Amino acid sequence: MSDTVSGDSYKECRATADWLLSNTQVRPTVGIVCGSGMGGLADMLKDPQVIKYSDIPNFPQSTVHGHAGRLVFGTLKGKPCVCMQGRFHLYEGYPVQKTTLPMRIFKLMGVETMILTNAAGGLNQDYKVGDIMIIKDHINMPGFAGINPLKGPNDERFGARFPCMSDAYDRELRQLAHEVASELGYSDFLREGVYVVLGGPSFETIAECRMLHTLGADAVGMSTVHEVIVARHAGMRCFAMSLISNRSVMDYDSQEKANHEEVLETGRLRAEQLQKLVSNMVARLERN
Ligand code: 6GU
Repeated sequence: MSDTVSGDSYKECRATADWLLSNTQVRPTVGIVCGSGMGGLADMLKDPQVIKYSDIPNFPQSTVHGHAGRLVFGTLKGKPCVCMQGRFHLYEGYPVQKTTLPMRIFKLMGVETMILTNAAGGLNQDYKVGDIMIIKDHINMPGFAGINPLKGPNDERFGARFPCMSDAYDRELRQLAHEVASELGYSDFLREGVYVVLGGPSFETIAECRMLHTLGADAVGMSTVHEVIVARHAGMRCFAMSLISNRSVMDYDSQEKANHEEVLETGRLRAEQLQKLVSNMVARLERN
């Protein structure tokens, strides 16, 4: 039995990419993924062209409140972009290959740089709600249990069988983020750290939070890592950041509880700054 999931073959990705290219004049070189509560990123695009996921051949559907479920094409500071308003998560029930399918389609459309955002819980006790964490590395926890989007036969047209992940989060882009944040006066709430992904949808127990922190993670969430693995496999540069929407509960005396409303609310609180950070970064991308 093949591990290849219908919809992730080269032929199907090519067909979807071509369908999209025939439905927009934009030729995106930058791809952006909006995290929960951060869909406003897409509103920055000039001359936007919107395509609903439900209209795109082979595309999964977004099922989460706070995720719109559409692609927005347009230009950001003059650079042609495609923006995902709504992404796909393991906890929605998709096979992991489905959650990362848009990365391959973007690659085939000509995207060279991916910018991904998410909302995350702060494991690092120095972090505050509203902090923005540049992701410098990840821990793919489901990967330890054999859940990896590259599992199964490898198609060399996408990338190599055993892709390197020690350079997953582009050093130059992280440097650029620090520079732009400093110019915007955001340094006080800008962090850099390690993101750990879990399958969700339940939030972490106290014991799990303690364990993840001990393992070296600064923030915990349910997305981004699998997309980055597939994007890197396909040779795209990646930059990712987490908006810390709540602090992970680390002690048994605490009455705090993680909830999705808080995640969305923090997104709204920092939306404008996050958008400025992304747009000013895109403006200064050299290679595209
Ligand atoms: Cl606290 N945990 C996880 N797994 N994902 C989150 C989160 C927490 N906060 C936002 N997303």
